[in-house]
Amino acid sequence: MGRKKKEYQDIRITDIGDKGQAIGRDGDGVVYFVPDAVPGDVVDVLVLRKKSSYRKGIVTRYKSYSEERTKPKCTHFGQCGGCKWQHLDYQSQIKYKEKKVLDVFRRLGHIEIKEQRPIIPCAKIFYYRNKLEYSFSTRRWVSQEELDTQEEVDFGQAVGFYKAGHFDKIVPITKCHLQDDLSNQIRNYIDQEARKFDWTYYNIREHHGLLRNLIVRNSRLGEWMVIVVFGENVEEKISEVMAAVHQRFPQLDSLQYVINEKMNDSIHDQVVLAYNGKNHIIEQLGEIKYKIGPKSFFQTNTQQAKVLYDQIVELAQLKGDEIVYDLYTGLGSIALYIAKGCCKVIGIEEIPEAIMDAKENMDLNKIENAFFEVGDVKDQFNTDIIKKYGRPDVIIVDPPRPGLHADVVNTILKAQPEKIIYVSCNPSTQARDINLMQEDYTAEIIQPVDMFPHTHHIENIALLKKK
Ligand SMILES: C[S@@+](CC[C@H](N)C(=O)[O-])C[C@H]1O[C@@H](n2cnc3c(N)ncnc32)[C@H](O)[C@@H]1O
Repeated sequence: MGRKKKEYQDIRITDIGDKGQAIGRDGDGVVYFVPDAVPGDVVDVLVLRKKSSYRKGIVTRYKSYSEERTKPKCTHFGQCGGCKWQHLDYQSQIKYKEKKVLDVFRRLGHIEIKEQRPIIPCAKIFYYRNKLEYSFSTRRWVSQEELDTQEEVDFGQAVGFYKAGHFDKIVPITKCHLQDDLSNQIRNYIDQEARKFDWTYYNIREHHGLLRNLIVRNSRLGEWMVIVVFGENVEEKISEVMAAVHQRFPQLDSLQYVINEKMNDSIHDQVVLAYNGKNHIIEQLGEIKYKIGPKSFFQTNTQQAKVLYDQIVELAQLKGDEIVYDLYTGLGSIALYIAKGCCKVIGIEEIPEAIMDAKENMDLNKIENAFFEVGDVKDQFNTDIIKKYGRPDVIIVDPPRPGLHADVVNTILKAQPEKIIYVSCNPSTQARDINLMQEDYTAEIIQPVDMFPHTHHIENIALLKKK
């Protein structure tokens, strides 16, 4: 028989943790991690896991609510894991994000920062995303409230976002406030037609079903790309779906599809097939135009991407004669943005299609001093590349969440650039990596930028200067 779980009362929530969970303390200073609550709430907690230094649990009762709370805009809030902080006032969201960056730099990185700049908030806190990926599933998420009603519950198919912590259950979405409303219309239309025409949804446990994912991208120039990902290669049904989407949404600039019969959802190793229109969309930041293909990474908050890149330009203080490396360049976004200000810029990226986009983007913008190499940065950024293009004056890195590979840190340290600009969507790994460079570099400035309102995610730029 399992041990009875214990409830602890009157826990005051004081902070937000690394993964967005609330952190509370009792009168004895014991730390509690709970989902859903916000700083300022006082709650009772049923402890599910007890360690010597902390307890993890769920809120059983709210004794009082925080003044930092606000009414969530979205009806899916609480079910959908997408915008976990919608019940926290935006001013408070950015306050806790800024604090988190400083915490990890001090606590994890033991980094002395010369200048901590205040976080730059988003001007637009809804409809800020240029890309959403919806999933179709034979099983929808059913909430406890629904189960508690006496009515018959439909456990059937749904299109939306995965329920956090459940790989096979989808929270059905009817209106998401993250992307322009056409995205809702496209998703809802396919859902409605699927029910009419018996287009099956993907069963992730058994790996079958026609409709698997739907990727919707748009640009501030008003261009739209839709990619329908099918889990089964049934030609007749695929044609039916694509024809229906094309007929209902003739304004789409790029309508494409993928047949993905493998075990995971990634389309990076799959062929993307054109159905109608172009195979890309065009975005513009400042003077630079970007051709964005279906497999290329592009910052998901376009308006704030420009703010981020302007900060990079400001921190780099380029005079015009520098050799700059842009590691993890994607489709060359930062490299092309700064190209005019330096002697030459070299971008390295592992996705070949993104580098093809980067090269086309050079032509599109009539830029002649950018060079791109495809491959893993840990292998490509080496002494041969440095011999080929020259010793870097400035290195910009913008790696994914796991941060820099130790070999990359070593090559950077060997190359000894005057400045390193480290852009990161994960300040914990950023602090870890900067810690490894502290002997040779000082952390001059850190500049957090909010790119993802209502989530705990935070972008941070660090300027390091050679000692
Ligand atoms: C956070 S994105 C940054 C892209 C770009 N700097 C921008 O602002 O749009 C990280 C990029 O690194 C690429 N990437 C991830 N791991 C990589 C690796 N080991 N070597 C090279 N590129 C990698 C991803 O494909 C993605 O394009």
